[in-house]
Amino acid sequence: MLSYGPACGVPVVFAQSVIRPRDAKQPERKKGGHTIPCCRPPGPLPSSPFEYMAPKNPKGGRSAIIIGASSGIGEALAKRMARAGYRVALVARREAELQRVAEAINRKDRKLATIYPHDVTKFEEAPKLFQQIVHDLGGFDTIVYCSGVMPPVAKNEYSFQKDQQVFAVNVLGAMAWLNEAATRCERQESGTIVALGSVAGDRGRKGQPVYCASKAALASYMEGLRKRLGHRGVRVVTIKPGPVSTPMTEGLKMPFMISADEAANQIFRALNRTRTTAYVPIIWWPIMTAIRCVPSWLFRGKDI
Ligand SMILES: NC(=O)c1ccc[n+]([C@@H]2O[C@H](COP(=O)([O-])OP(=O)(O)OC[C@H]3O[C@@H](n4cnc5c(N)ncnc54)[C@H](OP(=O)(O)O)[C@@H]3O)[C@@H](O)[C@H]2O)c1
Repeated sequence: MLSYGPACGVPVVFAQSVIRPRDAKQPERKKGGHTIPCCRPPGPLPSSPFEYMAPKNPKGGRSAIIIGASSGIGEALAKRMARAGYRVALVARREAELQRVAEAINRKDRKLATIYPHDVTKFEEAPKLFQQIVHDLGGFDTIVYCSGVMPPVAKNEYSFQKDQQVFAVNVLGAMAWLNEAATRCERQESGTIVALGSVAGDRGRKGQPVYCASKAALASYMEGLRKRLGHRGVRVVTIKPGPVSTPMTEGLKMPFMISADEAANQIFRALNRTRTTAYVPIIWWPIMTAIRCVPSWLFRGKDI
């Protein structure tokens, strides 16, 4: 079926018409006084041909679970995905912020966002909440783990308490949620699992040794999942943003900083492409490729 897709250059409409179930309700358009079925499914146009190949949710439309959706990149991505017609489950601790995001997404005529207040460090709650969300959505196509913390760390500070919190949110919380998603995706042989790593995970830096280590661990975990699930029709995507203007980076001056909306647009585009690791913005790919090649003895002397 996939051989009809855009990869072999056949117009998208063929791929879409092959994948859509026969009994799916089709929009209609008028031509010369006659009503004829339209090839395009209802809803906004996809941003890429690969969107047509995404599995459809049995309840209709596509759906996504976004963990860490109460601010910054997660909030912007939730709004971007909702604009593309996804129903979104918004997860984070701050209920009022989640409510604000949901209100911005939901309109009178369409309720696309539902909120699920949750602390990702309460690992034991993840399996039950995951099942509840999947039940409410009627399945899911994409899960995005955005939750993350980067507490300020002084140059001579070695606080195990802070380090533990960073690993609990950035790594263990991701495993608690994405293991659940992986189990389901493996069974249904479809789905997209996404986590927000960082360019900071590519090398250890003296300013934030543990944050860098947490993002390196997350990238490694995602690579392992990809090897397990790639051949089962499941996409596992690691996003590595450079600096993005969000509450996390408030007051920090960093190079090539982009807005959360711009980051969300680029992440959304990456979800619909074949890439498994995406630097956002793309300028960080050559930069980090070069930085990763710097030998350790030389990197040690650099002031980063
Ligand atoms: N901003 C950047 O420059 C940048 C660059 C590279 C990677 N990243 C990564 O991108 C992700 C999003 O960061 P951001 O910049 O958008 O930061 P942000 O605005 O501070 O958002 C962080 C999100 O994580 C959630 N979160 C934190 N602790 C949580 C917990 N215990 N339980 C559940 N959710 C929790 C927050 O929700 P609640 O507080 O409501 O729980 C919030 O929704 C992070 O993983 C970050 O490491 C950011």
